[in-house]
Amino acid sequence: MIEQFAAVEIISAKRDRHELTDPQIDWVISAYTRGVVADEQMSALLMAILLNGMNSREISRWTNAMINSGERMNWSAIDRPTTDKHSTGGVGDKITLPLAPLVSACGGAVPQLSGRGLGHTGGTLDKLESIPGWQAELTNEKMLKVLQDCGAVICAAGKGLAPADKKLYALRDVTATVEAIPLIASSIMSKKIAEGTSALILDVKTGSGAFMSDPAKAGELARTMVALGIDAGVKTRALVTAMDVPLGLTAGNALEVRESVEVLAGGGPSDVVELTILLAREMIDAAGIKGKDPEVALKDGSAMDVWKRMIRAQGGNPEAKLPVAREQQHFLATTSGTMTTMDAMKVGVSAWRLGAGRSRQGESVQAGAGIELHAKPGDEITVGQLLMTLHTDEPARFERAIQALEGCVEIVKGGSVNRLPLVVERIQG
Ligand code: URA
Repeated sequence: MIEQFAAVEIISAKRDRHELTDPQIDWVISAYTRGVVADEQMSALLMAILLNGMNSREISRWTNAMINSGERMNWSAIDRPTTDKHSTGGVGDKITLPLAPLVSACGGAVPQLSGRGLGHTGGTLDKLESIPGWQAELTNEKMLKVLQDCGAVICAAGKGLAPADKKLYALRDVTATVEAIPLIASSIMSKKIAEGTSALILDVKTGSGAFMSDPAKAGELARTMVALGIDAGVKTRALVTAMDVPLGLTAGNALEVRESVEVLAGGGPSDVVELTILLAREMIDAAGIKGKDPEVALKDGSAMDVWKRMIRAQGGNPEAKLPVAREQQHFLATTSGTMTTMDAMKVGVSAWRLGAGRSRQGESVQAGAGIELHAKPGDEITVGQLLMTLHTDEPARFERAIQALEGCVEIVKGGSVNRLPLVVERIQG
């Protein structure tokens, strides 16, 4: 096959701050996926993009080229509108677990194709895999059947969905080119558009525990992604939400499942409940569904019924006892006063070091590992009070996990709480 371009021309164009043309973008993504463009050439192009940016036409074309590298899911057999949520990830962010069955109970169909966690933020599939018997890998036929029968499916995205992104993401991870808004936006939106949902709500996290700690940058990422979704015909909205403090009272796989089940039972921490209901209302409104209100569906048990059906449909036992780590250690307050801050990133890193997360793709995670929080900013604390319980199967991990918590909480006599509002910005295209 005679190639249309040489990679070096495209790299030098972006290095010299020129716009890439549509044919150049289509070719470079296709040629990289086919193995014609080498990793070292794509690394140079990614760095040029990180340094010199892309305009909205280039980002949109780049996203489309990634979508076209693989299959598009088709949910036309489903008799309800499809609506989905994507979070950029944060510490204790278990919202997908109660949200998918909740939106189904309100009349939507939620095809939630998720990933595994890398680094300090946990992955939805890792959390659900702590439920005995639950299977993340489904064939496309089985996905459709679970979605048809339960109104929600949470499973691993198949290999055929945006394969260009899989290669590019692995390369960005090792070439310090993850943090470019055009590359993040196209990576997330290529998968979500290929997933074939008719409506999409983006939960873009900001604060210390988020990928984009600066709220202005998180807003820019959110606007870029909303524009890409709208362009592709997906009813897309975004909420920029707080991740300066962990969400809820748990970080870790089985611990977060337990908390999600509490929310589905009508209880649970107020921030998790509030964000779940807010996102559910956005998802059903964007999809034009006039169903039950999410607050009602949490209280009347209908969301819990969907959860149990959905877990059973994927081989899991929703009534089984969740795994508990073999060892626990307490983390106590060393002073009295008001807790003014709790750094989400430090809690995330500590939970990760306890074994809740992985440092390399393919590593296994501990189902029971993680952190339970017994106090949050705003609480009055007395010296010696239990602030956190650390859980792991391997006690040798405690020392580094506790090191990660150094400076994590601030306790000040008469201090006032300084934290982001739950919703920092809302963007509707
Ligand atoms: N998540 C993704 O899927 N892609 C990115 O680039 C960043 C976060």
